[in-house]
Amino acid sequence: MKIAIIGGTGGQGLGIAIRFIQAGEDVIIGSRTIEKAQTAVDKVKDLLGDVKNVKAAENAEAAEEGDLLVLTVPLAAQKSTLISIKEGAKGKTLLDATGPLESAIGGSPIDYIDLWEGAAAERSAKILKDTQVICAFNNVSSAALMNFEEPIDCDCLISGDNADSKAIATELIEKIPGVKVVDCGPLKRAKIIEKITPLLIGLNIRNKTQFGGIRITGLDK
Ligand SMILES: NC(=O)c1ccc[n+]([C@@H]2O[C@H](COP(=O)([O-])OP(=O)(O)OC[C@H]3O[C@@H](n4cnc5c(N)ncnc54)[C@H](OP(=O)(O)O)[C@@H]3O)[C@@H](O)[C@H]2O)c1
Repeated sequence: MKIAIIGGTGGQGLGIAIRFIQAGEDVIIGSRTIEKAQTAVDKVKDLLGDVKNVKAAENAEAAEEGDLLVLTVPLAAQKSTLISIKEGAKGKTLLDATGPLESAIGGSPIDYIDLWEGAAAERSAKILKDTQVICAFNNVSSAALMNFEEPIDCDCLISGDNADSKAIATELIEKIPGVKVVDCGPLKRAKIIEKITPLLIGLNIRNKTQFGGIRITGLDK
């Protein structure tokens, strides 16, 4: 499967890219500029060796070429970025990692902003009407993703309205060693999932780490 990481040059996007490249998937790192995307690809090759299953593209081109899209931009860039990929995203699944953090409007990263759409992922779904949006990766830290020689001790809480898209997302995300997906139900649950992100950032700061995650226990029969 070709996976396009939209805004893949930041910590979260690069970390997800590296983990999917390691899993053998074809990854396109997207950016507003091809130069920045290429720099990110060069960085991946420095870290992983001369891997062949990664390429650079501008976001719109990445969305056209990708079979499945992952959105990893800050809240303030969410709307403009989605508009720039709208055509390419039609009929596809998009995993949305956007965290509605107060830092998007000059506040604190350990506080949450209430959006009128509900969750950031619900906002994505309103903008991309012909795309299946899945809330994912909000509670997996970029530091853990970038620590690519180690498994990640964390569940990935997802939510979305399309069962097939969630099944594809689950199979893909669980290729990351250590990560277990927990399906939290319809997309409207994203407003609960997304609130865990600022909580984890605060816990990481208080405990002087970057690897804090979450495990839901007791669900296996
Ligand atoms: N970092 C984490 O541990 C973590 C954990 C969970 C969820 N998240 C969420 O994942 C998303 C990405 O996080 P991040 O830390 O990777 O963010 P980031 O490094 O600040 O930004 C990621 C990329 O977004 C693009 N971008 C930044 N500002 C933009 C703007 N004004 N307009 C258009 N594009 C812009 C940039 O790509 P180009 O300049 O190349 O276009 C940048 O490299 C956020 O919503 C965050 O809340 C992050």
